[in-house]
Amino acid sequence: MTELFIHNISELVTLEPLAFQKKVVEIENKDLGTYHNAWLWIKDGKIFGYGDKETKPDFKICENIIDAKQKLILPGLIDSHTHPLYAGSRHDEFAMRLDGKTYQEIAQAGGGIKATVRATREASDETLLELARKRFKNFLSKGVTTIEAKSGYGLSPSEEIRELEILNYAAQETNQLVITTCLGLHALPPEFKDNKAFVKLLTDELLPEVASRKLAMYVDAFIENGYFTVSDCEPYFQKASDLGLKIRIHADEFSDAGAASAAAQWQASSADHLQFASDDGISLMAEKGVIATLLPGTSLYTTIPFTQARRFIQRGCGIALATDFNPGSCLVDNLAMMATIGALHCGLKAAEAIAAVTYVPAVSLGLGHHKGALAKGYDADFLIYDVESATEWLADMGRTKPSKVWIQGVQQI
Ligand code: NIG
Ligand code: FE
Repeated sequence: MTELFIHNISELVTLEPLAFQKKVVEIENKDLGTYHNAWLWIKDGKIFGYGDKETKPDFKICENIIDAKQKLILPGLIDSHTHPLYAGSRHDEFAMRLDGKTYQEIAQAGGGIKATVRATREASDETLLELARKRFKNFLSKGVTTIEAKSGYGLSPSEEIRELEILNYAAQETNQLVITTCLGLHALPPEFKDNKAFVKLLTDELLPEVASRKLAMYVDAFIENGYFTVSDCEPYFQKASDLGLKIRIHADEFSDAGAASAAAQWQASSADHLQFASDDGISLMAEKGVIATLLPGTSLYTTIPFTQARRFIQRGCGIALATDFNPGSCLVDNLAMMATIGALHCGLKAAEAIAAVTYVPAVSLGLGHHKGALAKGYDADFLIYDVESATEWLADMGRTKPSKVWIQGVQQI
């Protein structure tokens, strides 16, 4: 299909003002670029035009016309932090947490990430591919048209490469844009006793192959008490930068490990979690344009505090929201739900929460020039929801799936 005209849209949320100004901070309602009784015109997979009834063109000449029947259109959602490639289940740990054990206590006893590493290493390529396919589909059904997907349950050069190969293979089979991240420093694998030796192995043997085969655009590490320190990660991120790989970081989730400041120093694209980020770290992130990606689903699951968004917004830091979908700290793959929880519990205003699942994560993934907004020339990734307004959508907490989904002008659902 080369041309599509959609009319009778109750609310069309374009976020065009943000895209036009390349702005991720000081987001207000007017930045949503909302049109009422609107139309949207797509040509060759891109946004060609939009407006309200005053500017409506004579669309009868279009090849394909859709009546939106007074429903809402949003840009496709962008989930900028997920762990979709894993085998096994950790529901036993969930039960242990209900009995009072913490996420860290379970990890120290050999559970947590290490339990998933065991199950994932044992799984065949076919099994993992099937799981990745199924999970990407589930995300799509909930309106996610662009997804960041991490490895991180292999924890050896060959197993991390295998995970990235499978993620890239599954990425080719979906029309969603999948951006892969190598999370080699997710935890210390059982065959190592010492962080330094493990970091050296990944730095010397994994990163060059990831870069030369373009298996990932980003590298990531879990900087936290009991996992990796800022100084452990220094050579890994230095090498990654030298190889042209960009940086995302699991930062300061359970304690202030100095990761927010380090993210700024390393010019990371995103620092994520950040419950315990220091004020100075946040200011440095703002100065260097590091996006703060908040993951409220993990607070729900592990009963740690919600990250307080106003601490970041006051200091001029852009905020994205993501699911952190993974088998331990968040089993929810519903980004629309995170928008609502982010608004209610992290303290985001409505416009900030909507931008946090569309335009801001696009920027954090280096896609702000063509995704995350319905501005002229942008990819025609958009959703129709059977609700009438963005406010109704936000109050709904992700219960309503989009009734129709387009990616680059091609209808997927
Ligand atoms: O983002 N914090 C580290 N990594 C994941 C958890 C992964 C797991 O528990 O398997 C997270 O919460
Ligand atoms: Fe994570």
